[in-house]
Order: sequence, then C-alpha cells, then structure tokens
Amino acid sequence: MHKYLVRTLCAAALLLLGCYVQAAPIVIKFSHVVTDNTPKGKGAILFKKLVEERLSGKVEVQVFPSSQLFGDADEIIALLKNDTQIIAPALSKFSKFTDVLQLYDLPFLFNDLDAVACFQNSPLGKEMLDSMSKKGIKGLAYWHNGMKQLSGPKPLRVPADASGLKFRIMSSDVLQAQFQAVDANPQKLAFSEVYLALQTGQIDGQENTWSNIYSQKFFEVQPFFVESNHGLLDYMLVTSNRFWKSLPDDVRTELEQIIDEVTVEVNKLASQENEDAKQLIVDSGKTQILQLSSEEKTQWRAAMKPVWEQFKGDIGANYVDAAAACSR
Ligand code: LMR
Repeated sequence: MHKYLVRTLCAAALLLLGCYVQAAPIVIKFSHVVTDNTPKGKGAILFKKLVEERLSGKVEVQVFPSSQLFGDADEIIALLKNDTQIIAPALSKFSKFTDVLQLYDLPFLFNDLDAVACFQNSPLGKEMLDSMSKKGIKGLAYWHNGMKQLSGPKPLRVPADASGLKFRIMSSDVLQAQFQAVDANPQKLAFSEVYLALQTGQIDGQENTWSNIYSQKFFEVQPFFVESNHGLLDYMLVTSNRFWKSLPDDVRTELEQIIDEVTVEVNKLASQENEDAKQLIVDSGKTQILQLSSEEKTQWRAAMKPVWEQFKGDIGANYVDAAAACSR
C-alpha cells in the first residue's frame, strides 16, 4: 500500500513537472546592430512590448541592440543555428543567400520611400520575401530605414570628388561596383567598426542614413556630408524556417499579426526619425551638410547608373523594371 502511494505521488510529481516544463515561455532573441533610437531599434522594442501584452507567459522576447549578441559577420549564421530567432539585417547583407535582393542596392533606383513601398507591396516585391526559403531563411516583412547620404573628408559635390577615396560599404557586390564606378575604393566593413575606421583614417568616407549617421556619431568624424539620396537602406525581418515551423499554430498566427502591426508603425516613423536625426546633426554644428544642385545630382546618377546593367541578369530584369517603374 505504502509502495503504491509513493508510486502514485511520484507519477503526479512527474506530471506536474511535465506541465511546468511545457508552460515555460518560448524565448525569441531579437538581435540587431543599431541603437534603440533608430527605426529598427524602435521596431524591435515595439515588437517585444506587443508580444508581452498579447502572449504573456507563452512567449518572451529578448532584444539585443548594437551588435551586443551578434554582429554583421555572424548574425545570419546564428539565426540558422537557432542561437537567435529574429534578426533584421539590411537587404544588402543577404547576398550570400540570394542574388535577387541585390536589387535594393542599385544606385538611384528609388526616388524615395514611397517608391520603395510601391515596389515592396507589389506581388514581385512580396515574392522576394521567400527568396531565401531554400536556404532555411523565412522573410517576415520589410522594414524601412531610409535613403543613404554620402560623407567624406572633403565636399563630394560631383563624382570626381570621390575619386581615390576609401569608402566603407556593407557586404554587397553592387555597392562595391557603385563606388568603383566613380573611381573610389570600396571597403567591406562591419557596421560596428565604421566609427573607429573613420576616426583613424582607415577609411575616408561612408554612406548611410541620417538615423545611423547620428546614432553612431559618424558626423563627429566626417567634416562634409552631401544629401545625395543615392541609394536605399532597408531591412528584411527574418526568422529561420526551423524555428517558425516549431511554433504552435496559435502563437505563430498571433506573432504574424503583431509583426504586421509593428511593420506599419516602423514604416510610418522611419522618415521622421531620419529627418529628426538630420536636424540634430545640423544643430551639433560639428559637420557641414551640403545640398546638391540638380546638375550635380545628374552627374552622380550618370556615373553610378551603369551598375544596373552589370547586375540586371543576376537579379532578373523583370524585378529591375518593375522597381524602376515605381519612381516614374
Ligand atoms: C550598415 O551596416 O550600415 C547598416 O546595415 C546598419 C543597419 O542595420 O542599419
């Protein structure tokens, strides 16, 4: 009788333990490389807030900004190893996994974020979210940052001013070709290393959005900026097929709903974030921001646009034509 009681109690304890283990929340580590006060940083925080409101006890989100957990070199590999579950790299950083996303790096392809949204919301734009599924990567959404601006040790009014200078680029062959087209010397470098490289003269210049230029303090080590708007820096929010499939259906559905809502918010606030950052840079008085005349801008466009032909075959002419049509 005593033995029977002990066994029953043990079985009940195991059952309770099982319930407890099952009830432990699913942890989503969201790793990224920018600060909290940027479009992506704010998006990650809003995602965490909404998940904790609506999936309390079921899912816990841990946000790791500023390359604290993983940087450019290892975040996609970490995602595939399930060491992080959500990341949002710049579209330029997926070139090892697909050619098609190189589209977004073509210089002067999009006039502004409205043109970007026009393409991303089209059937072809949405199709690109699945471009890495065979590699185990699932595209969840596009998040905006904004248009890139050029900076250097001297005013970069026309392409000839960039000749011979070393520019930091993200790991993209299109960006490499873009700077080679103006006789400059592109250097692929992780985001977290750019400030020091500019400060020490390892590189002369860079291209990025106002929100990144402000939050990384690049304006403190670059005397001249031009508002060139020559290219785009946008993100793809991605997870791994493996993690996404492992989620219970109801949790996955709720996460998809939350991601849709956060995407709308991020894409609404991105332009304002960049405008605010630009104003803060102006107010700092530490650098000069030059405007290009339309004649100067025409020269940049003419020098860089031939890069399209170099990559059109790999990307797919139908994507390039459809994206270009959004800026007409
Ligand atoms: C960069 O490397 O310049 C950007 O991709 C950083 C970011 O995530 O905005």
